[in-house]
Amino acid sequence: MLSKTIQDAINDQINKELYSSYLYLSMASYYAESNLSGFAGWMRVQSSEEYAHAMKFYGYVIDRNGHVELEAIEKPHAKFKSPADVFRQVLEHEQKVTGMITKLYELSVKEKDYPTQIMLEWFITEQSEEEKSAGDILEQLKMIGDSPVSLIMMDRQLAARGNK
Ligand code: FEO
Repeated sequence: MLSKTIQDAINDQINKELYSSYLYLSMASYYAESNLSGFAGWMRVQSSEEYAHAMKFYGYVIDRNGHVELEAIEKPHAKFKSPADVFRQVLEHEQKVTGMITKLYELSVKEKDYPTQIMLEWFITEQSEEEKSAGDILEQLKMIGDSPVSLIMMDRQLAARGNK
């Protein structure tokens, strides 16, 4: 059985993961409207991954005989200045999420909740990967600068993820 403290914290994280899914969906529509279908597809896949993260926490609460309590999801940002600005926001967002997962882990240590610590290890690894991929794409976008040809090439490259 989960403690009320851990249960509340995981329920809050479910909401944050659903917000991430919503945010990436908003970013996907920005790219689609900018005629960058590869970037849009990449973001849609990312949005699905965030939904899967929420469901991983959701399933964990259920498996531990806890109670899932869903809250309203915050409205995501919808205004972006450029393709690079979007990934700057992705990286910032993922760094924030890493902080949340770290706090959750610290709480589970404090509560001596070992199963939750083991479950969170997957998320700790996942966050390192997400920060790396967002950071790599941001750096490439910075290198591209204002070159439409390079942006189109990168769009084709990112399309591979959306087509999987
Ligand atoms: Fe679920 Fe991108 O963190």
